[in-house]
Amino acid sequence: MTHTPVAIIGAGPAGLTLAHLLHHNYGIESVIFESRSRADVEETVRAGVLEQGTMNLMRETGVGERMDAEADIDDAIELAIDGERTRIDLAGLTGHHMAVYPQHEYLKDFIAARLAAGQTIHFETEVTDVAGYDGDQVTVFYTTKDGQEQQLTADYVMAGDGSASPRRALITELPGAVRARHEYPYAWFGILVHAPQTQKELIYANSEHGFALISTRTPEIQRYYLQCNPEDTVDMWSDERIWEELHKRVSTDDLRVAEGEIFDKAVLRFRSAVTDPMQRGRLFLAGDAAHTVPPTGAKGLNLAVADVSVLAPALARAIKKNNTDLLDAYSSLAVPRVWKAQHFSYWMSSMLHTVPGQEYFQTERSRAELRSVLSTEAGRTYLAQQYVGLDLPKFEV
Ligand code: PHB
Repeated sequence: MTHTPVAIIGAGPAGLTLAHLLHHNYGIESVIFESRSRADVEETVRAGVLEQGTMNLMRETGVGERMDAEADIDDAIELAIDGERTRIDLAGLTGHHMAVYPQHEYLKDFIAARLAAGQTIHFETEVTDVAGYDGDQVTVFYTTKDGQEQQLTADYVMAGDGSASPRRALITELPGAVRARHEYPYAWFGILVHAPQTQKELIYANSEHGFALISTRTPEIQRYYLQCNPEDTVDMWSDERIWEELHKRVSTDDLRVAEGEIFDKAVLRFRSAVTDPMQRGRLFLAGDAAHTVPPTGAKGLNLAVADVSVLAPALARAIKKNNTDLLDAYSSLAVPRVWKAQHFSYWMSSMLHTVPGQEYFQTERSRAELRSVLSTEAGRTYLAQQYVGLDLPKFEV
């Protein structure tokens, strides 16, 4: 049986970023277990916005080169009400930028860096059990790609295995632990299209027909979203219906949504969830395993990066200095930021979407809120600051 300082479950944003920070910043080894194949991890389509802090972390730790070359780095976003667009000058208002860089590209960069550093990722490997987290040493039981049952001991284990994490229940079963949830009365219909960019900057459009978002992937591939019913299925949205709705919601005399061949369609559910605490003994949660945000503010990946920006120095201090003060404080340092991201995602969502069948009063009140934000510099500045993201926490080890 082998031993590693940190066992990591899940090669998503939380797991790969943690492993990278541990190795790059502190020379600490870890082992990553991932149930999916490398190809699956590198190809699954997710959201794609990096906060300024996430971009900085990539650059400062040597994985930012391809992002800088290929991401669509923008100074601004636009918010529209019935076709009337307001530019939110992120760079002018905050000094920071945002990047559209798909999550799977982010993961590719971190997988490549890890393999280049000779570090381990066990793909197609299922973790079947974790034991010993309340004691002095953790044991991780796993089944390899070719069906062999094996185990590994570790000083600490981090579960970054997504919103269905089987490990979360080990924490939520503790007395006093909280799992707060919220469901939204709308969802997004997401498509990928072979088309040129509609315009350089993202457009978040509120309209009487529902919300739409114009985003991008590459100069030739665009990502569009339409508000839909959470019960909708892909076959309910023909190409004709998609284009008709996108034009109704976004296109104007001076801007027409670029059309092209649609090659991917999916319904994205809107959910919020927060777990507190995010730790138990030697077990820690990060990313979606601990919390879920709706896609509107594109905070999901960035929140995982923020979690492990606390966890990496905390683990390093524990492993190298035998001092667990930061590790003991992990939840109290991470959870307040999670709530702020929940609030921002909820606020953007509720301001931009129209709830089907809601009272006329509520529809007009939320559009007045959006107009108030867009028409004042204070409002635009607040939105811009939250959008580009709070600084990532930094700790000495
Ligand atoms: C995306 O391009 O996938 C995207 C962009 C902005 C968002 C959410 C998703 O707020």
